[in-house]
Amino acid sequence: MSMRTHKLRCTGCDLRIAGEDARSDFRCPSCGDLYEVEYPWSEGAVVEAEKVNRPNPNALRYLWQERRTSSLAIDQSGVWRFRDLFPIVDDDKVITLREGNTPLYELPKSAAALGMNWLLAKHQGMNPTGSFKDTGMTAALSVAVSRGFEWVACASTGNTSAAMAAYAARAGLRSMVLIPEGKIAWGKLSQSMDYGSTTIQLRSDFDGCVRVLTEIVNRAPVYLLNSVNPYRLEGQKTPAFEILEQTDWQVPHHIIVPGGNLANCSALGKGFAEMKHLGFINRVPKISIIQAEGANPLYTAMKENGGTSLTPVTADTRATAIRIGNPASWRKAVRILQANGGWCEQVSELEIALAKAEIGAEGIGCEPASAVTLAGLKKLVADGRVGKEETAVLLLTGHTLKDPEYTIHYHRGELFDSQEMASATSAQLTQYTASKHGPIVLEPNADDVLRALDAIAQNAVPA
Ligand code: F0G
Repeated sequence: MSMRTHKLRCTGCDLRIAGEDARSDFRCPSCGDLYEVEYPWSEGAVVEAEKVNRPNPNALRYLWQERRTSSLAIDQSGVWRFRDLFPIVDDDKVITLREGNTPLYELPKSAAALGMNWLLAKHQGMNPTGSFKDTGMTAALSVAVSRGFEWVACASTGNTSAAMAAYAARAGLRSMVLIPEGKIAWGKLSQSMDYGSTTIQLRSDFDGCVRVLTEIVNRAPVYLLNSVNPYRLEGQKTPAFEILEQTDWQVPHHIIVPGGNLANCSALGKGFAEMKHLGFINRVPKISIIQAEGANPLYTAMKENGGTSLTPVTADTRATAIRIGNPASWRKAVRILQANGGWCEQVSELEIALAKAEIGAEGIGCEPASAVTLAGLKKLVADGRVGKEETAVLLLTGHTLKDPEYTIHYHRGELFDSQEMASATSAQLTQYTASKHGPIVLEPNADDVLRALDAIAQNAVPA
């Protein structure tokens, strides 16, 4: 399929433009909303019928599996393996770090605690730079290369910057990241420096970084790689295809995603919708979005006005990746909630921390922002919105090593102050005490170590 067949469709007013004609801030000149990529075979695409070469599900299922055994980098990528459904650049322009192909794990302990038969986690933290951002960055950065840009940039709470810096380094492009000073996890900041990016910490929050960057891309030839860039979402839709492959095309009932800037939920929604439209599956999963209580503008908007308007908030949560008060893609998120069904929930700091420890205890682990999914699912199961016999897939968006400081503070009992702990229920306190595994400091002799093991075996705290 020719690379020139795609268009950008404004999700607000339906205006269609050629990819090269997008404004540098990726806002529609007519209504200010965001674009999505449309192909001749897309639902509702305006093209002459004879020009539509409709992809064949059976042939593609076979081809996508076959590519896993190929020695070509573009085939080994778990994103570009599916390139037939996002022909946005020529193959020789693709910049890949073999992203995607991430595991779909069972979470038996969490499932049992919820009384569910089957709970799955798609671990996007197992990508090359440790987060789901790689799946989108490989796509959009390849477009930057094919359009001849020398500079790329993003504002970030950390993961986008790490991904962009890595892919820019591979492509030989210069990159600049704007991050909020002191409000992102060190692990992520260290990555962007290591990959050679120009790393600028602004004395502001994420929303302030976005404001400055928007002005920069309007004034200089810098390619914007935030998730307003619709090509990012073409890569981020591919985990939906992988989930379907990994479940033998049995569509899960629920997909649970963290909500920050609110693009990933719509990317996955687009992926599932395309699978249904092309005849791979006959229904789509419900997609629920979970926000931290301190960064909950979509939750509030859905509750107060059904998502017709959104009031930005000053965001504050220890889940720094989703510390976003003015999410760019909130309208896309509302459309996904409406199209697929599903809910927007909010969870407290303590609920996030307990859920993160539970995911750690499965031998998997994730970063705090990803743990909101399990915390949110507990609420959805508790009031019956998710049935215990239904299948849910949690999107674990980032690796546990992204924010080790958070984990260490939790296990040392230093994450929460006494005022915060005072609001914990007794069940939460019990879970908190049982799940903490702080280091035990002992003299260097075997007797002391064995005594400590005995005490643990008897469920007592060693003296
Ligand atoms: N989980 C993690 C680990 C993230 O890094 C992000 C966003 C999200 C969830 C939310 O995804 O924005 O599509 O709703 N991180 C951004 C960044 C914004 O700059 O890395 P979203």
